[in-house]
Amino acid sequence: MATIKSRRKAVSALRVKSAPRNYDVADLSLADQGRRRILWADQQMPVLRVIREQFARDKPLRGLRLGACLHITCETANLLRALKAGGAQVFACASNPLSTQDDVAAALVKHEGISCFAIHGEDRDTYYKHLRTVLDSHPSITMDDGADLVSLLHTEYTAQASEVIASMEETTTGVIRLRAMENDGALKIPVVAVNDAETKHLFDNRYGTGQSTMEAIMRATGILLGGSVVVVAGYGWCGRGVASRAHGMGANVIVTEVDPIRALQAAMEGYQVMPMKQAAKLGDVFITVTGDKQVINGDHFDLMKDGAILSNSGHFDVEIDLAALRKLTRRIEREVVPNVDAYHLRSGKKLYLLGQGRLVNLTCAEGHPAQVMDMSFATQALCARWAAGSRTHQVKVHNVPREIEEEVATLKLSSMAIKIDSLSAEQKHYLTSWQTGT
Ligand SMILES: NC(=O)c1ccc[n+]([C@@H]2O[C@H](COP(=O)([O-])OP(=O)(O)OC[C@H]3O[C@@H](n4cnc5c(N)ncnc54)[C@H](O)[C@@H]3O)[C@@H](O)[C@H]2O)c1
Repeated sequence: MATIKSRRKAVSALRVKSAPRNYDVADLSLADQGRRRILWADQQMPVLRVIREQFARDKPLRGLRLGACLHITCETANLLRALKAGGAQVFACASNPLSTQDDVAAALVKHEGISCFAIHGEDRDTYYKHLRTVLDSHPSITMDDGADLVSLLHTEYTAQASEVIASMEETTTGVIRLRAMENDGALKIPVVAVNDAETKHLFDNRYGTGQSTMEAIMRATGILLGGSVVVVAGYGWCGRGVASRAHGMGANVIVTEVDPIRALQAAMEGYQVMPMKQAAKLGDVFITVTGDKQVINGDHFDLMKDGAILSNSGHFDVEIDLAALRKLTRRIEREVVPNVDAYHLRSGKKLYLLGQGRLVNLTCAEGHPAQVMDMSFATQALCARWAAGSRTHQVKVHNVPREIEEEVATLKLSSMAIKIDSLSAEQKHYLTSWQTGT
C-alpha cells in the first residue's frame, strides 16, 4: 500500500507528464447539434450550474488531470464542463459501448475543449483502447460508472495507482466490485462510493432508472403497458422505481427477488412475488435490474410466451443469459425494428431482446432525465472537490461526506423553490436526549 508521502510525490509529478492525442469521436460535424442538447440539459441541471459557477471562481481542481469513464450523454457533458471550469484537464471515455451520444462526444471536443474518446457502437477492442488512452493521460482523479477504469488501473496500469488521489464510483455494480477489491486487500487507491450517497441512489436509481427504463421499452416496441404483465427481477432501488412506473402505466407487475426482506417489501407494496420459473410463464415484458448474472437463464426461455420481450436495466449485459438463449435459438433476426432483435427458438416461439441485453434505458432511450442527473453529478463534482482538497485520503472505499449530501439536497430544494422547516433548539435537545418519556 502506497504511503501518503509517496502518493503526494507521485501526484505532484503529474503536471510534467505530456498528454496523449486528444480525441476519438464518430463525427465532429455533429458538434453543433450536440451542443444544443448539452445546453438544453443544462437548463434542467440548476444545482450543477451553481457548482460550475463556484468552480469557475474558486478553481478547486486547478492543475489536475481528471479521467472520466462515464456514459457520454448530454447530462455527463455538463458534469465534465463543471470539472473543467474547476481547473481540471478532462479526459473522457464511454462506460458502455452503446450509450454514447455521438453528437455530444463531438461537442465536447469541438466546443468544450474536452478530450473525448467514445464512439457509439464501438467494439470491445476500441472500448478498451479508449479506456487505455484515458489512463495514458495519467489522471490524478478518476470517475467510473461500473469500475472498468479502476479495474484496468489495478491490472495493466498498477505503476500509476500511486498517482491517483481518489476515484469516484457512480453505480451499484461498480461499488460492489470496489468493496470486493477492498475486502481482498487488492484496492490500491482511495475511492468514493458516490452511488451509495442518498442524493444519488434514492433519486437516480429509483426515479431516474424507473422512468427511463419504461420510456426505453415503450420507444423500442411501442407496446401498450396497460393490462400487460411486466416482470421486474430485483426489487432494489432501481427495481422499485421500475415496478412503480410500470404499475403507474397500468401494467400488472410481478417481482422476483432473492432477498426475503426486499421480497416482502414488494409484496406489501401490492405486487405479486414469485420465482422466475413461475413468472417466466406469465410475463409479456421482462426487466432485469439486479446487478447479478444469469437472472433469466436457460431454465426460463422456453417457458415464456411467444412474443415475450426481454430487457435489462442492470449495469452489465450478464443478467439475461445470452449464451443460453443462443443455444435454444434456431435463427436471430437482427433489428426487426431498431434496437429489437428477434430470437426464433427451436421450439417455434419468438422472443424479442432489446438493446442486445445492455442497459435498456441507455441503448433504447437517452438515459435518465437531466433533473435527476443534476443531483448525481452535483454529488460527483463536490466529491472531486473533496478529493482534491486534501489529496491524502486513506486507501479504502469512502462514503460521500454528509455535508456534501446536505449541500446537494439544499441546492436542489432551493432550485425547486421548496422551503422546509428547521429544528428549534428545544427540538434538537429533545431529539438528542433520552431522559424525556411520556
Ligand atoms: N439502468 C440504469 O441507468 C442504472 C442506474 C443505476 C443503477 N443501475 C444498475 O442496476 C443494478 C441494480 O442496482 P440497484 O441500485 O437497484 O441495486 P440494489 O442492490 O439496490 O438491488 C438489487 C436487487 O436485486 C436482487 N437480486 C440479486 N440477484 C437476484 C436474482 N438472481 N433474482 C432476483 N433478484 C436478485 C437483490 O436481492 C437486490 O434486492 C446494478 O447493476 C446497478 O449498477 C442501472
